[in-house]
Amino acid sequence: MKKPTLLLALKGIAACALLLIQATAANAQSITIPIETKQNAMVLQVNSEKQLQTVYFGNKLSDKNEYAAIAKSYKAFQSTSEFNPAYTTSGTRNLLEPAISVTHADGNKSLELKYVDHSVTKINDDVNLLSINLKDSLYDFEVTLYYETYYNENVTEQWSVIKHHEKKDVILNKYASANLYLRAGSYWLKHFHGDWAREMKPEEEQLNHGIKTLDSKLGSRADLFQPPIFMVSLNKPATEDEGEVLYGNIEWSGNYRIDLEVDPTNNLRLIAGINNYAADYTLKPGVEFTTPKFVYTLSNKGEGDASRNLQSWARKYKIVDGNGPRLTLLNNWESTYFNFNEDKLAGLLKDTKTLGVDLFLLDDGWFGNKYPRNGDHAGLGDWEVNKAKLPNGIAFLTKTAKEDGVKFGIWVEPEMVNPKSELYEKHPDWIVKQPQRPEYYMRNQLVLDLSNPKVQDYVFSIVDDLFTKNPELAYIKWDCNSLMYNAYSAYETHQGNFYADYVFGLYHVLDRLRAKYPTVPLMLCSGGGGRVDYGALKYFTEYWPSDNTEPIERIFIQWEYSYFYPALTSSNHVTDWGKEPLKFRTDVAMMGKLGFDIVVSKLKPDELTFCQQAVSTYKQFSEAIWHGDQYRLQDPRENDVASIMYVDSAKTKAIMFNYLVNYRYDAGTKLPIRLKGLDPDKIYSVSEVNLFPGTRSSFGSATYSGKFLMTVGINPDVRDGRASVLIGVEEKK
Ligand code: DGJ
Repeated sequence: MKKPTLLLALKGIAACALLLIQATAANAQSITIPIETKQNAMVLQVNSEKQLQTVYFGNKLSDKNEYAAIAKSYKAFQSTSEFNPAYTTSGTRNLLEPAISVTHADGNKSLELKYVDHSVTKINDDVNLLSINLKDSLYDFEVTLYYETYYNENVTEQWSVIKHHEKKDVILNKYASANLYLRAGSYWLKHFHGDWAREMKPEEEQLNHGIKTLDSKLGSRADLFQPPIFMVSLNKPATEDEGEVLYGNIEWSGNYRIDLEVDPTNNLRLIAGINNYAADYTLKPGVEFTTPKFVYTLSNKGEGDASRNLQSWARKYKIVDGNGPRLTLLNNWESTYFNFNEDKLAGLLKDTKTLGVDLFLLDDGWFGNKYPRNGDHAGLGDWEVNKAKLPNGIAFLTKTAKEDGVKFGIWVEPEMVNPKSELYEKHPDWIVKQPQRPEYYMRNQLVLDLSNPKVQDYVFSIVDDLFTKNPELAYIKWDCNSLMYNAYSAYETHQGNFYADYVFGLYHVLDRLRAKYPTVPLMLCSGGGGRVDYGALKYFTEYWPSDNTEPIERIFIQWEYSYFYPALTSSNHVTDWGKEPLKFRTDVAMMGKLGFDIVVSKLKPDELTFCQQAVSTYKQFSEAIWHGDQYRLQDPRENDVASIMYVDSAKTKAIMFNYLVNYRYDAGTKLPIRLKGLDPDKIYSVSEVNLFPGTRSSFGSATYSGKFLMTVGINPDVRDGRASVLIGVEEKK
């Protein structure tokens, strides 16, 4: 009796399952998934073959029901193939660049992902998470696409989770995070290139048919040559205040790849993710591979609006303590390099107090005994305090700092090792290098293999020990100077997994540190801006844009970074680089997170007074600079004078920075510069601030309506002799 009952029951279940499948298939034809933010909608649709396609990305419609009709309007552009899958596969019908390509356990290389179902989770009033499940019909292979939308910021983060239950390992040959599809008459890509001290050089070009790839193969400080940030303007290059423009950043601190392909139907396919260069990833059955997030924002009001959207999202949701304050500091790197001792540092701690900044930051050179860190050729990896330089340890410095009423921070470079170190001698298998080949160095050092959990523990313990032994420690500068040559891991079974596992290992360490020390400020440094991206900034409060602190160069470098990252993340130090006067150098550093790296004891009395006053002026306007909206007023590439301003959210206080960037005869401000972002109906007092002691302002001060300031503007009178001018704007009550 039992068997037939069971059989009947099974038959019943099978019938229900069939109904369910039929229902899903029938529904699938009419499934339209709009992904909306305040201004935009990306519309996905499931076609009759259950393929998930992107049919639209642009201004949103008022009636959601109309999204279903969009695909029909584009019918005329269809070609022999479908180019708009929401996550393009390979090995079957698609012949264009895929988002994913795999080698199944049986060696077969085909994949076709069909829509299964989707759901939306409301995280809060601003944030929603859409997940869409896709599955291959032949192989037990699945991908879930995630779209996390930040409604008010017009920002989306997109990623995918890949898994399978095949009998053996599957190789992921390409495994992108996101696959976007944009339709416009023409596409203009602005991207950036650089090298040490030459970061963020912009280039803009029209994308033509074929593929333009932005990528990095450098391993650790992956964006030294080409950072993973870019913008694409639609129809014509966007300007500061006009045009449709998409900003993107792959949140990944390792090798990345962004393909921009204008397809045969003149649409733009954008595929972003981890670089699959030398990185065929072996995935075990049942294990999930979560790709990094790709963050993007689309604006129809130009580059300024797009950058304010991204900056406000970053402050609110991504960077550590984005709504909090930042510490001003004195760093000793350029004033001492490796040459210091306890007495010298005690003097610098006093200078920190004299200057009026919050913290003293001890840089490289404080560690190593068998191989003392007296230069960049030795000691890296041996994180015991150097007894000759600091006989009383770090504790003496934190104690002295406390007595002086300042905070204390320290430099580390925990992912790296010098061949001249005890760590290198003890753990050759912890180092990224080819066992049988000559070693290649960048800055005399090699990279530790963070794919190895033992190395992760070691790196974690370096920073954890510092905090445990010195509870007063208030700041860490986390450096990363070498890229990866000879990429090989003694730990990995599958070398193709190494590049990705290195970054997962790094994030694992940072996750552990942040779990234990959630808010302590950390600076992300990489011999300049070789590492900044939103994957890393999730753990850091700020980054070091460039070792180049020559202030005119800095105006350009900070300007370009500012499109993507908020000002409070940009660590700007006043140094002795260049020929510009101290005031110019300080004014430039004030456009972000202010620090100094100068010999305070060598300042003339009026220079010291100026610096002290600058620190207090900075504090007066820091709310606008750190958490306000940023407006670019005059581009240094197009004008003699660069001008940029920051306005607090209440529109009560603002500061305008103006610099002469071209010293040709008679160069300067000839016309008024229109301010932005103020309240037209408010009355503002406008005056020059941060004057050098003993100088008089030719600008003076006056009262204007917001309307006047934004319609007519003001002339800050920038010229040779007045090469940097800061204008404070305050609501008159
Ligand atoms: C490179 C950084 O960019 C510098 O600021 C300094 O910290 C040195 N490393 C120390 O080696």
